[in-house]
Amino acid sequence: MSLGLPINVQKQVDPRQNSFVPRVFTVTGKTRETADTVTIKAHSGDGGVQLEARPGQFNMLYVHGIGEIPVSLSAVGSDGSLLHTVRRVGPVSKALGNLRIGESFGVRGPYGTHWPLESLHGRSVIVLAGGLGLAPLRPAIHHLLKFRDAFGEVGIYCGARSPADRIFASEFSRWQREKPHATGAKSIQVRVTVDRVPDQAKAAWHGEIGVVTSLLPRSISDPVNAAAMICGPEVMMRHAVQDLLQLGIAKEHIYLSLERNMKCAVGLCGHCQLSRYFVCRDGPVFSFDAVEHLLTVKEL
Ligand SMILES: Cc1cc2nc3c(=O)[nH]c(=O)nc-3n(C[C@H](O)[C@H](O)[C@H](O)COP(=O)(O)OP(=O)(O)OC[C@H]3O[C@@H](n4cnc5c(N)ncnc54)[C@H](O)[C@@H]3O)c2cc1C
Ligand code: FES
Repeated sequence: MSLGLPINVQKQVDPRQNSFVPRVFTVTGKTRETADTVTIKAHSGDGGVQLEARPGQFNMLYVHGIGEIPVSLSAVGSDGSLLHTVRRVGPVSKALGNLRIGESFGVRGPYGTHWPLESLHGRSVIVLAGGLGLAPLRPAIHHLLKFRDAFGEVGIYCGARSPADRIFASEFSRWQREKPHATGAKSIQVRVTVDRVPDQAKAAWHGEIGVVTSLLPRSISDPVNAAAMICGPEVMMRHAVQDLLQLGIAKEHIYLSLERNMKCAVGLCGHCQLSRYFVCRDGPVFSFDAVEHLLTVKEL
C-alpha cells in the first residue's frame, strides 16, 4: 500500500467553516501531569455540540482578558469532552492551567492537518515522543490500540527530562498490556526513558536513562512497510529523523508535528509562516520529505 501523502497529509477542515468566534467550554476535570503541566477536560456550553477532531489537530484556546494560544488535543472523550494538556510557560498557558472546575474558556477549531492513521493501515508504526510532544500523539496512540489488528508491529518510545516530567505516565502500562485482537497479530512495545534521575528519585526509578532515540531498535524487519510519527523539540526531531532514515524508513513515511507562533490559525495572518507553508493550515503534521529543506536550517 502506498501512502502517497504529499505535503499537507490530509486536510479535513475548511478554514472558512470555522468561525473566529470562540465557543464556550466549561472545565469539568483537571489532572496534574507534572509540576508545570495540567490536562484540562472541558465540555461545550452550547448544548453538547461535538467538535469533529482528528488525532494531531489543535484548537485555539482563549482565556477571557488574557489571550489565545494554540494547544493540541490530547484526547477526545466519548462523551464529547475535549482534553488539552497545557504546560505553564507564559500568560495564557498559566491562566489556562489556573482555571478551576466550573470556569469557562473559549475554543475555536479544530485546525490543521492530522496524523494520517488510516493511510498507515497494514504498516508497522514507530511513535517517538519527546516531553510534551506526547500530547498530540496520544490520540494517535489510542487509535493504534483501538484498531490494533490493522497495523503491523507498533513501537511507542517516549522520552522525558526526568521521571517527574513524564506526562500520561499512568497510561504506559495499559498501552503495553494491550493485546492484539486477532490471532497472529503483531506485538506492541512501549518503552520510556528519561534524560536524568535526581538522586532522591534513583531508588524508585527502574526505567531507562538516555535520549529517546536510544530506544529505537537497531534494525526493523520490513522498513519499506514501516512509518513513523514524531513530536517533540525540533532538535530531537532532527536526530530522530536521521535514525529513522538509517533504519530504512522512507522520507515520505516519516511524519512530524511542527510548532510556530500563531494568531489566526486559518492561514490569513502569516504569523506561522515557514517558507512557503503556513504551519496552521499546511501543518502542524507534515511528512518529512515536505519540510526536509527547512528542518536543516538552524533557528528558522
Ligand atoms: C500547533 C501547536 C500545538 C501546540 N500544542 C501545545 C500543547 O498541546 N500544550 C502546550 O502546553 N503548548 C502547546 N503549544 C505551544 C503553546 O501554544 C505555546 O507555548 C504558547 O505560546 C504559550 O503561550 P503563553 O502566553 O502562555 O506564553 P508565551 O508568552 O507565548 O511564552 C512565554 C515564554 O515561554 C516560551 N515558550 C513558548 N512556547 C514554549 C514551548 N512550547 N516550550 C517552552 N517554552 C515556550 C516563550 O519563548 C517565552 O519565553 C502548541 C503550539 C502549536 C503551534
Ligand atoms: S496563524 Fe495566521 S497564518 Fe497561520
